[in-house]
Amino acid sequence: MPAQTPRDHWSSRFGFVLAAAGSAIGLGNLWKFPFITWDNRGGAFVLVYLACIAAVGLPIMIAEILIGRRTQKSVVGALQEALGRGWGLVGGLGVATGCILLGYYTVVAGWTLSYLARCLRWSFTGFPADYDAGAAFGALVTDGPVQLVLSAAFMALTVAVVYSGVGKGIERVTKTLMPALFGILLLLLVTALSMDGAGEALGFIFRPNFGELTWDGVLEALGHSFFTLSLGMGAMITYGSYLSRRESVVRSAAWVVVLDTLIALVATVIMFSVIFSVAGMSDHLGRSTAGMLFITLPALFYTEVPFGPLLAPLFYLLVGFAALTSTISILEVAASYLIDQRGVSRKKASLIAGGVIFVLTALCGLSLGAWGPLSNFVVFGQKAGLFATFDHLVSNWLLPIGGLGITLGAGWVMTREVTRAELADGTQPRWFRYGMWRFFIRYVSPVAVAAILLAVIVFGRDFS
Ligand code: PHE
Repeated sequence: MPAQTPRDHWSSRFGFVLAAAGSAIGLGNLWKFPFITWDNRGGAFVLVYLACIAAVGLPIMIAEILIGRRTQKSVVGALQEALGRGWGLVGGLGVATGCILLGYYTVVAGWTLSYLARCLRWSFTGFPADYDAGAAFGALVTDGPVQLVLSAAFMALTVAVVYSGVGKGIERVTKTLMPALFGILLLLLVTALSMDGAGEALGFIFRPNFGELTWDGVLEALGHSFFTLSLGMGAMITYGSYLSRRESVVRSAAWVVVLDTLIALVATVIMFSVIFSVAGMSDHLGRSTAGMLFITLPALFYTEVPFGPLLAPLFYLLVGFAALTSTISILEVAASYLIDQRGVSRKKASLIAGGVIFVLTALCGLSLGAWGPLSNFVVFGQKAGLFATFDHLVSNWLLPIGGLGITLGAGWVMTREVTRAELADGTQPRWFRYGMWRFFIRYVSPVAVAAILLAVIVFGRDFS
């Protein structure tokens, strides 16, 4: 073994929980979840989603943090040590997944900078009466140079944080941004609940309407629970590897899962309250994920929402914060792989990983119309272009495959003695039952994840 500097650690469980919640709470909560809830007609879908989070998400979250804390290594080394050498392949797949995911995620994150800047301008100069929201969004995503500048800026922010280290970079930044995010969200929630559409929004989200639930909806809820909890590619293994042995795996995992779920629901309540406040608005919502966040909402802030000029920039700041604390965790998976397995220094590793991934980001950014060949090819059915292909690959294939590997490894390869000693180590909360976890991780999660893969492979479903 080469001489190593001692591993950096979170200063406390609070530090870990905020960083891991920062990873989990991201564009998945603000950009994807409200849209798929809309697309699946709310109510019953939300209930199924909650069940997936509890029955599949939480057990796998516990497994990932357990593997990280036990081995104190990043994803490839951790899986090799906990499960056996060959499992390094699953770790390698995780690193590759991270690169592809960050490739397109940074593009969307970049848009938040553009909308933040727009809103700041409008708040001072007034909202332009002739603003065509759809055309403006189209102009943004097809403008190659602008796409490159925005995503490069976001990538630079991400690299800067990972470059500064776990304690001085990631923990410090998430400890500042996450409380700000919670504060802004609360402010928005109070305002949204005072609007006319709040009642209808709450009914739509929380009144179960099982008649409208489809099997595709169930699998989509399941697939999304991986994405939103940052599971299936080793982000939580990596963050868990900086957790000290004194801190409880189960308590930490539970906090992250609860916070992520809460924020997804609150964000959805806010957005739907605003949208339902305008009569007939919901008929115009279109079928694109991007539409709600970047086309429908900006204008409504200025025309409908009380204190809109104040809240609109805050809202896009919030989306940006949420995206940044997620991009950091994705880059950290790749950087920590270079650091732990390849002996590269942290500073070099973050620059190399950021640079390499930015090539993918640039290509994705140009694949929304700016550059024809990248925008028009079709690999998976109806969705064209590199951006859509990457999202499809990650959400439908790579995260479920990685998740299946982790749940099988933790349930069937690691022994009962080992996992029990990690989870029931005296730090666990009183409600925790080891036997329950073992049952879920051995049987329930693998079957559920296999169902997603089966639907994708055999029935050609698409959940991205
Ligand atoms: N959980 C993040 C979100 O909801 C996305 C993510 C997935 C981050 C996987 C890290 C790893 O936006």
